[in-house]
Amino acid sequence: MESNNIHQWIKFKRWRMEFLAYLEWENSRDYGKMKGSSGFSSSSTAEEVTHGVDASGLTAIVTGASSGIGIETARVLALRGVHVIMGVRNMAAGRDVKEAIVKEIPSAKVDAMELDLSSLVSVRNFASDFNSSGHPLNLLINNAGIMAPPFMLSKDNLELQFATNYLGHFLLANLLLDTMKKTARESNREGRIINVSSEFHRYPYPEGIRFDKINDQSGYKKFQAYGQSKLANVLHANELMRRFKEDGVNITANSLHPGVIATNLFRHNTSLADDNPIRVFLESAARLVLKNVQQGAATTCYVALNPQVKGVSGEYFSDLVSMDRTGPLALARNRNEMDKPPLSTDLWGVQPQRKGFCRRCGNDKREKLSKKGAPGFSASSTAAKVAQWIDGSGLTVLRTL
Ligand SMILES: NC(=O)c1ccc[n+]([C@@H]2O[C@H](COP(=O)([O-])OP(=O)(O)OC[C@H]3O[C@@H](n4cnc5c(N)ncnc54)[C@H](OP(=O)(O)O)[C@@H]3O)[C@@H](O)[C@H]2O)c1
Repeated sequence: MESNNIHQWIKFKRWRMEFLAYLEWENSRDYGKMKGSSGFSSSSTAEEVTHGVDASGLTAIVTGASSGIGIETARVLALRGVHVIMGVRNMAAGRDVKEAIVKEIPSAKVDAMELDLSSLVSVRNFASDFNSSGHPLNLLINNAGIMAPPFMLSKDNLELQFATNYLGHFLLANLLLDTMKKTARESNREGRIINVSSEFHRYPYPEGIRFDKINDQSGYKKFQAYGQSKLANVLHANELMRRFKEDGVNITANSLHPGVIATNLFRHNTSLADDNPIRVFLESAARLVLKNVQQGAATTCYVALNPQVKGVSGEYFSDLVSMDRTGPLALARNRNEMDKPPLSTDLWGVQPQRKGFCRRCGNDKREKLSKKGAPGFSASSTAAKVAQWIDGSGLTVLRTL
């Protein structure tokens, strides 16, 4: 074998190992196979879980609607009567999706607006254009994402996964909040914010979120950085829920794992060419065990539209059931700890001065905890515990918003 081929082969083996480990772990989650309290299962489709729902009169923003789960989410929401605004960075792809949806559903109300979540300027422009358009906003679906690219910086010089998956959506939600509140008030209909996270949120860096090392290239681990950004998505929804409850706002905020679906998300995780026979074989095999996009969009559409979810907030859903109700708790979500400083509050960047809380612990304790699992925590870990090594000084990253 030539050295180039050997190199390719090693890369492929490494990617395959990571991918198979992910599949094995996903399949081991027996709760995903059960019919949950929703009455649906992991093989239910987005159309099935919204069957009979009349959502006409609602307006939704779906980010990342130019590919994968986002396209199907936009299509099914439009099918149910929602006016869908697709936030996409590739306007040509957005127009193609719009055309395809309208061709299938002539009554569909679908628009595409330019949004690059890795650019804070682009997010601000999008929000400003949307807010001044006079459209109401009932549903915000933060779906766009990238997974495990090599280390890269965004246009604002922030690690790309954290910038795209979390910060862009955090800013977007903040800038659209007044419009959402106004819509909820005037229409007397519950607003819903949905963060599409991932089971990977349980596998961030050992410290959880590296506030002080977001841009640390030398310690960059692409899957842990993905987990970090997805943990931030969960915490963001939790903190929104807490604030909405406190202020009596009629908007819910939830996060979810859509399942494992063969989409373009995996683009950074193989060096094999599209037509490489090994890749073609693996992708065909994967399709037999993974969800398709119709199933992959089900949890999002369920949480967005199904009346069963009315009033439910601060939950993490997977396969159409709230994980809180079925057992495993999402990291940092222990309700009894709500009155203590949660990591989600820190993530928001509102209490950077809490010195005692941010004190770093000794190595021994860290080692002991790390035996519990990759992130170093278990389902019974408290919010204060998972946040104990967070250095508040890193919060300046968030305060720049
Ligand atoms: N597929 C899975 O197995 C899986 C599992 C768990 C969680 N998820 C989550 O599900 C969500 C959807 O993923 P998917 O599987 O549908 O992947 P996908 O097919 O790659 O779609 C991702 C979407 O995000 C958009 N996007 C990426 N970077 C963006 C940016 N800077 N600004 C605006 N849009 C951007 C992409 O736009 P372009 O087309 O222009 O690149 C695309 O429309 C992601 O948040 C992902 O983390 C997926």
